[in-house]
Amino acid sequence: MDRYALVGHPVHHSRSPLIHQLFARQTGQQLSYELIDADRDQFEAAVKGFRAAGGKGLNVTVPHKEAAHRLADELGPEADIAKAVNTLSFTSGKVRGDNTDGIGFMRDLEVNLGLEIKANRVLILGAGGAARGIVAPLLNAGPSELWIANRTVARAIALQREFSVYGAIQTSNFEDLDALDPFELVINATSAGLKGEQPPFPGSLVDSRSVCYDMAYSLKDTPFVEWATHHGAGHAVQGWGMLVEQAAESYAIWRGLRPDTAPILQKMRR
Ligand code: ATR
Repeated sequence: MDRYALVGHPVHHSRSPLIHQLFARQTGQQLSYELIDADRDQFEAAVKGFRAAGGKGLNVTVPHKEAAHRLADELGPEADIAKAVNTLSFTSGKVRGDNTDGIGFMRDLEVNLGLEIKANRVLILGAGGAARGIVAPLLNAGPSELWIANRTVARAIALQREFSVYGAIQTSNFEDLDALDPFELVINATSAGLKGEQPPFPGSLVDSRSVCYDMAYSLKDTPFVEWATHHGAGHAVQGWGMLVEQAAESYAIWRGLRPDTAPILQKMRR
């Protein structure tokens, strides 16, 4: 049976094994999908070990997406642009790195949730690997403004410089966001919630017209969803749709066919 896995830290909460098993059942294929918990020091050895044992591919999550980019021998176009990899494939004799986060995220926003990016003001909170994957696709969708705010503002400025060919980006720390009007779309790409830390963002970022999107997901409301609801955001959603859509794109890279995500997403939401 072909072996796949998710490598990250932490990974115990992940629903990726379930999603890939549902895809396999739907498409009449057989595969196994494991969870590998590896911290930064263990990441490279974990990838090499899995590959040496015959593994066919890995999904990569927090905090290894940038390390996975450095480790890949060849890159798909989205991974090359994002300098972050969430999908490794070992079938060609080389290590191939792809990034399906951007496609998965945009599909969830535009197809599943029916959101319009064009001419709207968009804010990304966070400037790590999760933010990297979505900057170029968001700019390509034509927002009127794109802001990146981060606790360490230097990382936001680095992204601004790096992605300037795709469009204008404005940067801030969290405190200074207080001076801005509410945004139409606010995306949480920080790992604060995953670590059980409270969102340190000013409530003035949102009003009843705002959609708040948490790239993280949880069985109960995430801290960011709670924060958004508390501050009166019109909608607050978790990243279940992105999770399923990026998984479907990874599955398509590995297995050569794209599952139908709608019934799987319905099942996950239930
Ligand atoms: P990922 O691949 O999930 O993006 P990462 O590269 O470690 O992981 O980035 C984590 C992001 O969450 C960063 O933007 C980080 O801010 P810093 O660049 O200042 O470290 C942000 N983050 C993590 N914990 C946070 C917290 N408690 N409050 C605010 N931001 C936090």
